[in-house]
Amino acid sequence: MAIIRTVSSPQELARSAALHIMGLATEAVDANGQCSIALSGGSTPIPTYHMLTESPFRDRIPWDKVHIFWSDERTVPPDDEDSNFHAAYQSFIEPLSLPESNIHRIKGEIDPPQAAEEYEREIRQVLGGNPPRFDLILLGMGADGHTASLFPKSQAVLTPKDTQLVAANYVEKLKSWRITFTPRLINAASQVTFLISGKGKSQRVYQVLAGRHQPEKLPAQLIKPEDGRLTWVLDQEAAQYLHSG
Ligand code: 6PG
Repeated sequence: MAIIRTVSSPQELARSAALHIMGLATEAVDANGQCSIALSGGSTPIPTYHMLTESPFRDRIPWDKVHIFWSDERTVPPDDEDSNFHAAYQSFIEPLSLPESNIHRIKGEIDPPQAAEEYEREIRQVLGGNPPRFDLILLGMGADGHTASLFPKSQAVLTPKDTQLVAANYVEKLKSWRITFTPRLINAASQVTFLISGKGKSQRVYQVLAGRHQPEKLPAQLIKPEDGRLTWVLDQEAAQYLHSG
């Protein structure tokens, strides 16, 4: 069962997400000595990432024990404006001088299938387990219902490979390759949290959460952690149809 939390504004969304990350990271490090977080891309989480450089987050999160990954990446170099790594690096990773050995970026600049294979190996190495179990995977959702880089009617959605954890996925509408976590890896996580903001997403949020189950069209519906916790944090605009019904 998903937890749906509605907050008043994008600023509140950022604060709620930063608190969620701080709580989870301290808990995971206390319990296991390390924490693994996969960041989502796009623009919604950027205010959260900036907030992590402020008190209390900068000092209270045990950064030296937090391993940072990405749930998807564009096929661009790490210093490209479009790179999800670049956005997080600039927002908090560089300002907090996080240890390089804890930052695990997807190599968007190399051959996509090879990048996917290498990333899957790195995840298995750092997390162990089969499938590896992230402490937290952050996700966004596009207005078309995609999440990570699982786009409607794309191969990673229509014909997923059973044991694959990271896929190279060609996105027709973008005419470009993406590297993405598969539903199998996402659904193995201990916590999966969507962060969604704005009225542009509100109809799709309603369809995904309250509409017909059609995951090939609405890949966000594929996200159902086996025994982890699924949370949707929405600002009021994104949640407007959920409450009006
Ligand atoms: C990406 C993302 C993608 C993103 C959604 C929402 O690489 O673009 O990972 O899944 O989370 O498209 O993007 P916005 O937050 O910019 O609306």
